[in-house]
Amino acid sequence: MTNTFLQGPILKGQRALVTGGGTGIGAGIARALGAAGASVVVNYRRSQQEAQRVVNDIRTSGGEAIAIQADVSKQDEAEAMFTAMYDQYGSIDILINNAGIQWDEAFLDMSLEQWHKVLDVNLTAQFICAQLAAREFVRRGVTPDLSVSAGKIICISSVHETIPWAGHVNYAASKGGLMMFMKTIAQELAHLKVRVNGIAPGAIRTRINRAAWETPEAEAELLKLIPYERIGEPADIGRAAVWLASDASEYVTGETLYIDGGMTLYPGFREGG
Ligand code: BGC
Repeated sequence: MTNTFLQGPILKGQRALVTGGGTGIGAGIARALGAAGASVVVNYRRSQQEAQRVVNDIRTSGGEAIAIQADVSKQDEAEAMFTAMYDQYGSIDILINNAGIQWDEAFLDMSLEQWHKVLDVNLTAQFICAQLAAREFVRRGVTPDLSVSAGKIICISSVHETIPWAGHVNYAASKGGLMMFMKTIAQELAHLKVRVNGIAPGAIRTRINRAAWETPEAEAELLKLIPYERIGEPADIGRAAVWLASDASEYVTGETLYIDGGMTLYPGFREGG
């Protein structure tokens, strides 16, 4: 599926940073932003080749992109990444806080290391990058030629910001925390014309949940949780990110957009109850 209804330069001239942009949902978002006319920084931690492929694809389609390495859960590395972005593009208009991991374990067996690692990447890194981006938005203010807002932050969360998830307490807690992080800074920054929103994807076909879809049996089990009866694709999230980053959603802030094929609609209640 292509970005038909949002194709064209809706983000022309805007500069976007996608953390964890080399793979999965991040890559889908980076491609969609590039197709919408943004200059895209594809951040990666380890997968240089994959990030470069996303950059090449964007350029081949007539867009502009570069790859920058950084572990965004480390403040010094994140700062260096923003500096490198400003050297290349001058500023930032759109931050997609996307980098995220799972390190699953039964609660009774989970180590403190597993807890901290997932909270560091999924929550603390979003704090670090959002603060750096917001400082630049506020320093620079609105650039009317580019956007009516001074800047946009999109926090990539999960349906597990509201759906409890046994065996994944570190992940679910990080996403639940992310929801209040997003709403609180949205409230705090709105008067500065900075918009902050969340996207909560359901089961999107990526590496992080491969075990949940790679065999026909696993896929059949997963589809029982999705009323729309298909697994999501990164492009489903990309289209929503373009809209949330654009002036088409100007009056939207502090919202979470669930993009989950109905996973949060309590599918077990379709019959019964
Ligand atoms: C998780 C996936 C999972 C999906 C739906 C996502 O946030 O990363 O592993 O398939 O939620 O449960």
